[in-house]
Amino acid sequence: MKNTKITETALRDAHQSLLATRMRTRDIIPVIEELDEIGYFSLEAWGGATFDTCIRYLNEDPWERLREIKEKATRTPIQMLLRGQNLLGYKNYPDDVVTAFVEKSYENGIDVFRIFDALNDIRNMEQSIKVAKAQGAHVQGTISYTISPVHTIDSYVDFAKKLEELECDSICIKDMAGLITPQSAYELISRLKQETDLLVDLHCHCTSGMAPITYYAACEAGVDILDTAISPIAGGTSQPPTESIVAALQGTEFDTGLDLKLLNTIKDYFNDIREEYGSILDPIAEQIDTDVLLYQIPGGMLSNLVSQLKEQNALDRYQDVLEEMPRTRKDMGYPPLVTPTSQIVGIQSVMNILGGERYKTVSNEIKDYMRGMYGRPPAKVNPDVYKKILGDEKPIDCRPADMLEDEMEKYEKLGEDLGIIKKDEDVLTLALYPQVAEKFLKGEAEEEELKPKTPVSEDPLAIPTEYNVEVDGDVFDVKIIPTGYLQVEETDKGPFTAVEGAVTSTMQGMVLNIKVQVGDKVAKGSTVAVLEAMKMENDIQAEKDGVVTQILVEKGDAVSAGDTIMVIE
Ligand code: CO
Repeated sequence: MKNTKITETALRDAHQSLLATRMRTRDIIPVIEELDEIGYFSLEAWGGATFDTCIRYLNEDPWERLREIKEKATRTPIQMLLRGQNLLGYKNYPDDVVTAFVEKSYENGIDVFRIFDALNDIRNMEQSIKVAKAQGAHVQGTISYTISPVHTIDSYVDFAKKLEELECDSICIKDMAGLITPQSAYELISRLKQETDLLVDLHCHCTSGMAPITYYAACEAGVDILDTAISPIAGGTSQPPTESIVAALQGTEFDTGLDLKLLNTIKDYFNDIREEYGSILDPIAEQIDTDVLLYQIPGGMLSNLVSQLKEQNALDRYQDVLEEMPRTRKDMGYPPLVTPTSQIVGIQSVMNILGGERYKTVSNEIKDYMRGMYGRPPAKVNPDVYKKILGDEKPIDCRPADMLEDEMEKYEKLGEDLGIIKKDEDVLTLALYPQVAEKFLKGEAEEEELKPKTPVSEDPLAIPTEYNVEVDGDVFDVKIIPTGYLQVEETDKGPFTAVEGAVTSTMQGMVLNIKVQVGDKVAKGSTVAVLEAMKMENDIQAEKDGVVTQILVEKGDAVSAGDTIMVIE
């Protein structure tokens, strides 16, 4: 008899997938003691997008949340999802930040570190694994699962062996898009059980509808741990329902031993949560989306775009974007689509279609990706696209973090100078998200109201210019400028020429940096400001030679699409 263990994802992945990660600490804490009674292998309750959402939208201290959870959960290990060298951000951090972050996470209550890299580049995982092991934590080395011509069962088994060499305690197969078939799961898990000595965990999303069948096949192959979510926030882009999996395995050799009656009290609690957060519950994210089987992209990535396009009777654009995603992904060497590569691929695909020309507008992130700054792409990137984006620049060939200078001292000093450091962890919050954290730590953040993601247009003929794009559970507000407005500006027509020589924002976002001053001479194509939009950094370039005569925004300002940033004459 093999007792299958269960990791409950209600407090992290499930609400990240269905409720835009918005579950608040005050709604999490009251159910911890009951969850702690169930007998789960672990409670996934921290990391992923929760940290960012806490400081960006909820005005909550994520460290405080972790400590409160840990205080109430005395039996069940608390688990977090960590993006290797990316920690909980969207870029690589230097080793000293990684070390301090992992140490503090352990100290505040993390028992199980699930560590992954979007490209399965082990060099991006070594530092965090080493530090977590040194703390005495359980380390779950993770395979980001995807399907491509270069991702084979052999390649995954080889990768798992490398994780075993780094002394990981278990292996997680992270199937973020719900792509793994019962047969593939059976083969991969059988091989992992034969060729490593590690516990094997399967983490699936229900997106394609295959996950519950796959879980049974995984049991037959000897899986040790399955990830599930309590039923009110299960299914769709979330995990299979805990109660259903427990019931399905009852009386078999894979019996989880969990008590369905006890689980029912948890279910009741989350039924109330579902009601409370009902306005942001995305009905499309809850559905089965079989497009994922054809296009091999996470089903939720464009769900809101779809609904708006449908509403406008313009579904032809949806098909274009859907078909663009695999092309963009191929150009990029088949990265698995998970944070941050899902954002980079997803947003680039939208830009490639709505921008009128492929790779005409590119984020700094995709430039860095092509340079190798996120790690080694699984396959060679498209050389033509590389050339269009980076010209003759050579990619790096070392571990990306080796290019980075230590940063802890810098952020300690910055934090002290700003007078916003009340505890050691605040320096880490600042180091991870300098812009958002500064506002949060100054006490200037506000709790965002729960509001529906897709407002319905009152004018049935209106063409949408603002979309919510959902990527891997995170929802981004994207405003689209009519295609080719730069040309329109040159002919001195259209809505964006109110100010002669105006440099405008092409997207809604936040001004990260202003690179010029009034009076500076600038050349056409030079970067004059940097805008953060959809968590990507985008250079704003001068559209002509001239002199900066006015700057209308400040660092940290929120701007809308079409807002004038500065004037160049
Ligand atoms: Co997940």
